[in-house]
Amino acid sequence: MLNNLPRFQGTITVPGDKSISHRTLILASQATGIVKISNLLESEDVFRTMNALKKFGIRIFKKNKDYVVYGMTVGGLENIKGTINCGNSGTTARLLMGLLASYPSKLKFLGDKSLSKRPMKRVINILREFGATSIPKEKNYLPFTFLGSVMGLPNHYKLQVPSAQLKSAFLLAALNTSGISTIEESFETRDHTEIMLKYLGAKISIKKKKNNKIIKIFGKMPLDAKNLKVPGDISSAAFMIVLGLISKNSVITIKNTLLNPTRTGILDVLKNMNAKIKIKNKKIICGEIVGDIEVKSSILKATSVPKTMSPRLIDEYPILFIAASFAKGISYFEGIEELRIKESDRIQSMEDGFKSLGIKLNTTKNSLQIKGEQSFNLNHKIKIDAKGDHRIAMSFYILSQVLNTKFQIKDFNYVNTSFPTFTKTINRLRN
Ligand code: S3P
Repeated sequence: MLNNLPRFQGTITVPGDKSISHRTLILASQATGIVKISNLLESEDVFRTMNALKKFGIRIFKKNKDYVVYGMTVGGLENIKGTINCGNSGTTARLLMGLLASYPSKLKFLGDKSLSKRPMKRVINILREFGATSIPKEKNYLPFTFLGSVMGLPNHYKLQVPSAQLKSAFLLAALNTSGISTIEESFETRDHTEIMLKYLGAKISIKKKKNNKIIKIFGKMPLDAKNLKVPGDISSAAFMIVLGLISKNSVITIKNTLLNPTRTGILDVLKNMNAKIKIKNKKIICGEIVGDIEVKSSILKATSVPKTMSPRLIDEYPILFIAASFAKGISYFEGIEELRIKESDRIQSMEDGFKSLGIKLNTTKNSLQIKGEQSFNLNHKIKIDAKGDHRIAMSFYILSQVLNTKFQIKDFNYVNTSFPTFTKTINRLRN
């Protein structure tokens, strides 16, 4: 079998960044005028956000390859009632709760089987000062009724967990609340909301003090209707990067990819593992750093990833564990407890998947250890359960490609939540 392994070569792009796509739609809806969005990610998660905004009176339509959003100004949404089905998308649920906290609103939030197991009280608690609550009040999981109000007050908050969704929910609530609100974080999480707000002329200031970042935002100030371009998603590119690194004789270039430092932890960790990665053509688009990533087959060595890195590669751990299974030595990942409350319990899902390949991991509630270069047991039908989690499905699919062995992956269709062209992109590289 080893002689027949495929190689992967070529130049590709990956679809638009998921986090940025949600934010373009939400912030465009609050702009004063018409916003054109290019390279929006056309995936199930992003369509959940789009459909919700349409319900609240925002006109959004596709024109050629772009989307056009008719902004209704800060505070301009209407008719905020009924039901919002967020599907698999935590970002839709948490960011929309933030947006609607300072609007008179009463609506039911729902999610699919995976989203209905993910904590929501953490976002409601941040939004209470702004006037929001849930019914029942202490319910942690969807479905529940969400109430927003115009009675909210500006707010000061120190983030207790490193979560960009919580930070963004806060900033969106503050945007439509009179007065100055501030939020402080001590682990830097992805900052696309701040960058986009600044780009659209919001009155926002960001100060960094040692490890602390303090964001101050003035509410009820207008947002400019400037066109937005979404860079390629580094979290999607991560699958192609690892594919190139762990397969033989491969060279892959991924063009126009987001290189925001709050998202490039995967590149730093892989480089530490001796990965051959080069960055080219760096530029700034709508305030975000973008560039091309070139990867070549590499002989990886094991690594230790501390807790402080986790916000910068939170969505990339599953595919990083696949990379670690090819590295020489024992890799250790700590401070990863947030993985337990993603689209699935990602520590458990990866452990279960590897187990069906004869690979044992050592895990605790917040860490994972994996010995690389073990031999995979492929002498039986390999069945993986992705448990409604796109990144688990894609991680094991990459492994199946590198090993040139078919895996049966349950819930593979969840790939459509973030990367609908995933298999097509791999097929283009395979030769
Ligand atoms: C996201 C933030 C992260 C990430 C998620 C997208 C965002 O979640 O895992 O896929 O767009 O803000 P948390 O904020 O819960 O860490």
